[in-house]
Amino acid sequence: MAEINWELFDTQVEACRLCPLCQRIRHKVPGQGDRNSPLMLIGEGPGEHEDEQGMAFVGAAGQLLTKMLAAIQLPRERVYICNVVKCRPPGNRVPLPEEIDACRIHLRIQTWLIQPKVIVLLGATAAKALLNPEIRITRERGIWTERKGIWMMPTYHPSALLRDESKKPAAWEDMKSLREKLITLGLYPDIYGT
Ligand code: URA
Repeated sequence: MAEINWELFDTQVEACRLCPLCQRIRHKVPGQGDRNSPLMLIGEGPGEHEDEQGMAFVGAAGQLLTKMLAAIQLPRERVYICNVVKCRPPGNRVPLPEEIDACRIHLRIQTWLIQPKVIVLLGATAAKALLNPEIRITRERGIWTERKGIWMMPTYHPSALLRDESKKPAAWEDMKSLREKLITLGLYPDIYGT
């Protein structure tokens, strides 16, 4: 079996034709950030700006995400950020279950390479794909679950916060809870800039 490494991951994502999403994109968006980070953030899928630049969370939602991380003293460069699907769904629609399943192999390899201690699931799509297909984000956000030694928490997607400001206090509670979790796991100050 070929050794799994980042080079292989990058090549496989670039060459991937496992679902039709790649037919209408400008760039694949594998994810980026600190590959040694104990913290991984997983969103839904690339939008227009991400597709243009080949980078995850660089549009308005990404800017808000950067601010949310900064609010708990986490420099964005110290975490790893990616999406459930690596190609932009047309018109930013929610990726279909078969597209998510086709792309799962890439996310598995990515998670295996990073070996995160904590994963934050940004929005219902990521939470359904990785935690529980029946999850209701409004009810179950902020709840921690341990799976195979990895602590996972769903929270609102930053785009949802941009659409509905009334969700922001709950999202702030989740960010504080994330900070507490990192401290409890002894990952502070490793992951922080100071
Ligand atoms: N929304 C996502 O879920 N991911 C991105 O990369 C950008 C917007």
